Amino acid sequence: MDQTDNFELFDSSSSEPVPKPGQRSRQSEFGQYMTSPEISNFMAGMFTPPACDVVLLDAGAGQASLTTAFVQRWSNKEQRIEAHAYEIDVNMLGGLRRNMSVLASPNVDIEVVEGDFLEHAAHMIALSKGPRYTHAILNPPYGKISASSLHRKWCRVGGLETVNLYSGFIGLSLKLMRPGGEVVAIIPRSFCNGPYYLPFRRLLLGEAAIRRIHLFGSRDRAFKEDAVLQENVIIHLVRGAEQGDVTISTSTDRTFSDMNESIYPFESIVFPDDNQSFIHVPSGEEGEADLRHHATLEDIGLKVSTGPVVDFRVRPHLRQFPEFNDAPLLYPGHFVKGNIIWPRPAFKKPNAIARNVETERLLYPAGFYVLVKRFSSKEEKKRVVAYLIEPEKLGGYEGAIGFENHFNVFHDDRKPLDEATARGLAIYLNGSAFDAAFRRFNGHTQVNATDLRNMTYPDRATIVQLGEWARNNPSASQEEIDKAIIDIE
Ligand SMILES: C[S@@+](CC[C@H](N)C(=O)[O-])C[C@H]1O[C@@H](n2cnc3c(N)ncnc32)[C@H](O)[C@@H]1O
Repeated sequence: MDQTDNFELFDSSSSEPVPKPGQRSRQSEFGQYMTSPEISNFMAGMFTPPACDVVLLDAGAGQASLTTAFVQRWSNKEQRIEAHAYEIDVNMLGGLRRNMSVLASPNVDIEVVEGDFLEHAAHMIALSKGPRYTHAILNPPYGKISASSLHRKWCRVGGLETVNLYSGFIGLSLKLMRPGGEVVAIIPRSFCNGPYYLPFRRLLLGEAAIRRIHLFGSRDRAFKEDAVLQENVIIHLVRGAEQGDVTISTSTDRTFSDMNESIYPFESIVFPDDNQSFIHVPSGEEGEADLRHHATLEDIGLKVSTGPVVDFRVRPHLRQFPEFNDAPLLYPGHFVKGNIIWPRPAFKKPNAIARNVETERLLYPAGFYVLVKRFSSKEEKKRVVAYLIEPEKLGGYEGAIGFENHFNVFHDDRKPLDEATARGLAIYLNGSAFDAAFRRFNGHTQVNATDLRNMTYPDRATIVQLGEWARNNPSASQEEIDKAIIDIE
């Protein structure tokens, strides 16, 4: 899991005291990152105006910012609100009780439930006991759930196998909703893809309709706190409702001053034939183009795998400089501004790997390939960075080639690609449209082979055509590449 999933700094101006030494651990133990008033109010406003009495759930309530925003927004003389706030941290309870009691009125009943929400929820679900909710407003804690923990067990009892507190909180809250009940939650976007969150996505898409997803602005934003917000989404779900179009809204930051909204058919958010149920969230960023190609890698006869050479496992076979019959070993550090430099003198990593019975299964036959870095940094403009491997740039080592584990390798069933396909694929992967489409569902900086397998591509003839264009335009700018991709489409 990516560090950037962490909730942080939602409210740097919060009235919470600055933590003293030792309190930091409590903050991370309980995932205590409070929601700012602006975001709380925005979230409260995302609900459909309540048409009946409300039973409200705020699980992991902290200081009740979210319940406060909800009650202030929706309490009126006609409808009653009964608000339940769950909180585990005894240090939070005093403030929580105070803030909740301020909300109480003839039409608003409040209840603070002390303890572990997942434990309470698991019991309520398994024993069909306790309240069922019409509304839930949540900023759940973030924290990994280990396989042997009680949290894991309680989630399982509640009907969800999951790896993080936030997905556990949302999953079990959904189970506690009445039909038509609405959930608005701010959560990391890591659930949108990857195998670990598949059971959560299945539960979410099976139990509820996605009405709206709000995204926070551009990656280039300078302020750290907004950069963290970008890794989160606010999602509006309706239990048991029919899935229709999905509203995607974006704002640069938490002031919501420049909000944009677009409506997308659900099929462009979750592709109907995707058995991984990835959730693609269009960023609406300038320059984003829809990928108009719907071929899978399998359709075009290509494969992508993680680079097989894990260097510490083959240490005795690594060579600083290649000798006769060794194979070049490529690391991301061998690429400088997109160009390969191999062998690299004074490189901290090895440049080569010996060829022998122990290493042969890790090597690919020399030839054209396309590599995509598995890890990009937050500073990098693009998440998908592809490199073309041209055999003649590897100093005449024609036998085999080693790709280190920090790459994904595009290949033709472990054989090289033909030159035009390799050139075309590299250009296509480096296009802005592919990067934007990739980021729709990938909220972290990692690019896994599974993610690349789940993307769509042009047919082989179009890739070859792009490859021919690329050969004739070796120093094309990003704009020229993007234009060529659109023109060829
Ligand atoms: C991310 S904070 C959000 C607080 C508040 N909802 C807000 O938006 O400002 C999560 C809260 O959940 C509480 N919490 C963490 N684990 C919990 C658990 N298992 N059961 C109930 N509350 C929990 C934390 O103490 C913290 O107050």
